[in-house]
Amino acid sequence: MSNADLLAHADRLKATNLRQLVDGDASRRDALVMSAAGLWLDASKQRLDSQSVSALLAAAKARGLSAAKADLLSGGIVNPTEGRPALHMAYRDGADIAGSEEAALVTRTQAETRAFAEAVRSGAYAPGGKPISRVVNIGIGGSDLGPRLVADALAMHQASGPDMRFVASLDPTDLELAVKGADPEATLFIVASKSFSTQETLMTALAARAWLTGHVGADRAGDFFAAASAAPDKAKAFGLDPERVFDFPDWVGGRYSVWSAVGLSLEIGLGPEVFAEFRAGARAMDQHFADAPPAENLPVMKGLIDVWNRMYLGYPSRCVAGYSARLAKLSDYFQQLEMESLGKSADLNGKPITHPSGALVWGGAGTEIQHSFFQWLHQGTDIVPVDFIGIRRHFSSDNDRERALAANMAAQGAALLEGREIDPADTAALPGHRDMPGGRPSSTLLLDDLTPANFGALISLFEHKVFVESLFYEVNPYDQWGVELGKVLTTGILSGEISGYDASTRALLGETGFQAE
Ligand code: F6P
Repeated sequence: MSNADLLAHADRLKATNLRQLVDGDASRRDALVMSAAGLWLDASKQRLDSQSVSALLAAAKARGLSAAKADLLSGGIVNPTEGRPALHMAYRDGADIAGSEEAALVTRTQAETRAFAEAVRSGAYAPGGKPISRVVNIGIGGSDLGPRLVADALAMHQASGPDMRFVASLDPTDLELAVKGADPEATLFIVASKSFSTQETLMTALAARAWLTGHVGADRAGDFFAAASAAPDKAKAFGLDPERVFDFPDWVGGRYSVWSAVGLSLEIGLGPEVFAEFRAGARAMDQHFADAPPAENLPVMKGLIDVWNRMYLGYPSRCVAGYSARLAKLSDYFQQLEMESLGKSADLNGKPITHPSGALVWGGAGTEIQHSFFQWLHQGTDIVPVDFIGIRRHFSSDNDRERALAANMAAQGAALLEGREIDPADTAALPGHRDMPGGRPSSTLLLDDLTPANFGALISLFEHKVFVESLFYEVNPYDQWGVELGKVLTTGILSGEISGYDASTRALLGETGFQAE
């Protein structure tokens, strides 16, 4: 199945009326609705029919999906530019690596973080003589977004344990607010950094150490720090106590690292049991991904749908609308997961690709977003497929606000699909202004309920669907070379070595009075 064949299907379907497609062939729904691991995907509002779904599945087969998946799950080198596997699933027992060195490493590091989390939660680790009441995670990118997302999404599952705060920004007010009202004798900082060389994280960690030193003295400040890193020697060289430097291997990518020691703030704050349920849910999705036939496989089908919209229908972005306050940060998380993974222009051999790669991902929380950018989604000149992500229980809830949330989500999908035509003769009804084009695709993805396990399955589903997409875009989803240059140029600016910089940047620095170090 060639790209040209798929493009022909796309052209055929672009010419059809989406509403008629949806209301037509009832068997089409069977191909586009599926469930696994506490999640239910309804893609029946996508511009797809059974023939195009079959064509996508055939294309996935032709691109070696089955062998590629087996390679990924068994620790093959799927990240060739860094010569590494991508075995983050091993942290949830979702990889096929039993008995290996990697498996032993995961077992050791998991036992270490769990023991420390239990010690903090029980008060056995209390360097200030009182139980830790606030944990502040200092990290950025994958060392921040995952823990921040999960802490927020599963906040209702925190029965006890310290408050969790997150600092990512270099803006000093971020740290100031994270420690506002905190008791320094009961505050634990976790410096999370895979590389332990990220400027933002290290500068903030130094500021946190200065804050602690001011309260408990330089001798004791280090007692209130722990670290999660794939470069433990650097963490130790930074002055952190080796006893509390929790390592993880470099084959856990930053944006895939919440399952590893990077999730330490969660293991402490939510508790090891909740964290284990979160991992177990992800494992259930890993198993489904490994075993389910492609046509019933959620990550495979979700990946194919996103590829379809991006590569064949030509939609450059996708909106993630989380219909729950607890799902508000999902779009931020998926933004890094998908855009850092799939925002590439070179194939696995470093040759330029001639087709689109991953879509721009953006979004927010419903219903709030209905009152901000949904106008643009309904009547703007661009078409953006929407992922409505909500909670199935809300549909039948006794709580009228939960039911209203579900109703709003369903209504938005219906409105995007249906559109509205005002009688052109009825000028009082504002034809044109109140017309809505409709025909705009969306998917609805429901968690049976917002449990740690279902939420873990959701994250795992998106990790795997990114991998599926990468087979079509022909890019390495596990590296991120595009972030390097900005870091190098920042170093130059800070050191004052800017003679080779462009005229605009030199003028910007000159006119603003920037002081190099
Ligand atoms: O700059 C991008 C990035 O490298 C991400 O891939 C990563 O998640 C983030 O920075 C933070 O990196 P680290 O965990 O090494 O501090």
